[in-house]
Amino acid sequence: MSRFPLHLDLTGRRVLVVGGGAVAARRIGSLAGALVDVVAPEVVDGFPDVPLQRRAFRDSDVDGAWLVLACTGVVDDAVAAACEQRKVWCVRADDASLSPAWVPAVARVDDVVVSVTAGRDPRRAVGLRDALALALETGDLPLRRSRPGTGSVAVVGGGPGDPGLLTVRARRLLAGADVVVRDRLAPQVELPEGVEVVEVGKTPGGPSWDQRDIEALLVARAQDGKRVVRLKGGDVHVFARGIEEVAACADAGVAFEVVPGISSALAGPTLAGIPVTARGVTQTVSVVTAHLPPGDPGSTVDWDALARLGGTLVLLMAVGRLPAVCDALVAGGRDPSTPVAVVQDASLPTQRTIVTTLADAAADTADVRAPAVVVVGEVVAERHA
Ligand SMILES: C[S@@+](CC[C@H](N)C(=O)[O-])C[C@H]1O[C@@H](n2cnc3c(N)ncnc32)[C@H](O)[C@@H]1O
Repeated sequence: MSRFPLHLDLTGRRVLVVGGGAVAARRIGSLAGALVDVVAPEVVDGFPDVPLQRRAFRDSDVDGAWLVLACTGVVDDAVAAACEQRKVWCVRADDASLSPAWVPAVARVDDVVVSVTAGRDPRRAVGLRDALALALETGDLPLRRSRPGTGSVAVVGGGPGDPGLLTVRARRLLAGADVVVRDRLAPQVELPEGVEVVEVGKTPGGPSWDQRDIEALLVARAQDGKRVVRLKGGDVHVFARGIEEVAACADAGVAFEVVPGISSALAGPTLAGIPVTARGVTQTVSVVTAHLPPGDPGSTVDWDALARLGGTLVLLMAVGRLPAVCDALVAGGRDPSTPVAVVQDASLPTQRTIVTTLADAAADTADVRAPAVVVVGEVVAERHA
């Protein structure tokens, strides 16, 4: 027997369902868009709200239908015979081997439709369908288009660096990307051959891309019909310029989405075993950039106020400026014996943690290299191994 898989678009087409049981109800659920009529002497509780004729099947019911689903378990032979006579496709629920057409297990992920039939074993087909849908959703299958389509930009937070900390949504978008525009601190993920990768990360002391050029690149590639992933380190909006990239897309009329990522501000302490808001220790955590040191005319950080506030302080971009920050906090009234932890390369194989105090941090952390997250506060003493 030759079996030729074919997808029918039943939108606006008449589909007759014969039978009012659970199987009929389930199959009607997958007929969205079709004009469904049901013939059945009775229906089960909770049956879909579709036009229903409460009576026995008649051969003439088939007239005018594109497709008939025989789900009676009793008169399916008669339904199939009536269809055969009128050259109408009939799917039999009782025995797929007797059907000229059959219903696969179907999953839709974005614009991809997966249909599975498995040796006339519907449960096996459903199991495979679910596994394939999951693999598509998690970006484990090649989702990349081979034909041009509508361009878009996804501004994606990649987490602190370990590819295992990418979100499922991020993985799926990367699996379908034509272009990946990547920051230096974004995770180094394997990308399929043929994907254009543009490294725009700002290397300390090295060449760097101008932010406006990055935005122009995102927009230009999307306008060329490409699916662009802008892969950033941590979260897209935590001391990052995600909002400017989003605004550039919006201004240019380019479709975009924003995917949050795990920020190093929280992942760094957690990966080092530090609970930033340990119960009974503190009720506040402040995330602050030390990009500009205390006293810099451009800085808007009130270090005195932070010292008075107490609680947990998480500092990003503090490498090289930690001695000045510690001095400012002590000058503002914070106890010099307050514990400090510096977490370098959080989530990467090279991760290391140095535990010190405000008084000793300058001497103890002289060899720390970026990237590093600094945690100041009593919670550092709660650290687990
Ligand atoms: C420009 S900020 C970007 C922050 C990022 N958007 C986030 O949410 O993590 C860069 C700073 O993040 C911190 N950082 C990023 N990745 C890190 C990592 N793997 N380990 C420690 N700190 C990290 C460092 O303080 C670094 O200087």
